[in-house]
Amino acid sequence: MMKIAVLPGDGIGPEIVAQAVKVLNALDLDLQLQEAPIGGAGYEAAGDPLPADTLALAKSSDAVLLGAVGDWKYDSLPRDMRPERGLLRIRKELNLFANLRPALLYPELASASTLKPEVVSGLDLMIVRELTGDIYFGQPRGISTLENGEREGINTMRYNESEIRRIGHVAFQIAMKRNKKVCSVDKANVLETTELWRQVMIEVAKEYPQVELSHMYVDNAAMQLVRAPKQFDVMVTGNIFGDILSDEASMLTGSIGMLPSASLDANNKGMYEPSHGSAPDIAGKDVANPLATILSAAMMLRYTFNDENNALRIENAVKKTLAQGFRTADIWTEGASKVGCNAMGDAVVAAL
Ligand code: IPM
Ligand code: MG
Repeated sequence: MMKIAVLPGDGIGPEIVAQAVKVLNALDLDLQLQEAPIGGAGYEAAGDPLPADTLALAKSSDAVLLGAVGDWKYDSLPRDMRPERGLLRIRKELNLFANLRPALLYPELASASTLKPEVVSGLDLMIVRELTGDIYFGQPRGISTLENGEREGINTMRYNESEIRRIGHVAFQIAMKRNKKVCSVDKANVLETTELWRQVMIEVAKEYPQVELSHMYVDNAAMQLVRAPKQFDVMVTGNIFGDILSDEASMLTGSIGMLPSASLDANNKGMYEPSHGSAPDIAGKDVANPLATILSAAMMLRYTFNDENNALRIENAVKKTLAQGFRTADIWTEGASKVGCNAMGDAVVAAL
């Protein structure tokens, strides 16, 4: 039996997760799905963006399917009560250090990208983002008042060797199953933390002689991603650079609404979520793109449940749906049939 914690979260979270659940239920799987609140929904339900019951459920499940968290209406809450903190805490609590964000261009969407079709067509890139360290979690942090009365904000970028090593191994192992190229992204010309990052990546690479390792400074990587994105196979980087570069990479695929993600621990237990946010401005309007969440469910079958067949079934159904001309507003172009979130989910189910 596959025990899955379903955490819809905020904004468009509930509507996109409902589509992924619909797709999972349409497959012949032995599923046990249990829902719980997180983010703003957790705060409303239990006064905590990661309620204890939600964390306990996530810990006792094989995998977590998450929608998105966040809403402007929580911006004035104390930092610990904000929706994003619930997401960061569940990643940390479950030790989900390896975040995989594939940027794959479906041929049908080449014209939906803001980049020229020849630049993006055939794009198949995997961003491996470290998810439980870096400036996101480093201490000391905070806002304090200096002696002269001026306020100061502090965050600390830090990585230890073992944290770098384990994400390095994940990246190289993924590259072994792909085109055997790893590009490690750092800022080793300025930041010591990432100088160490580079050293450790070079050490890890020695264990994978078939894989070609290259290094790129993050500013250059940001530029290369829009100049010639097809030069990349696997990109491995730290938490904050990965956050930024994966949003950038998503636009190569036409829309951030297409980008799934997997966040894995050392045993392939994982949390699966779209790479995009909660988009409160379009919540409840049935216009959100559910494909990133549906594709995240496919990643769940592949990485946690080792069910490549059903993962491919979902991915092929998504391709077929796009080939049939169904488009949500974010990927719509002249001549295609515009559908809402729910109808898109139905179209994928029909294509299974
Ligand atoms: C992401 C998001 C999160 C992050 C936010 C919501 C905390 O941007 O998953 O990329 O920064 O990791
Ligand atoms: Mg982000």
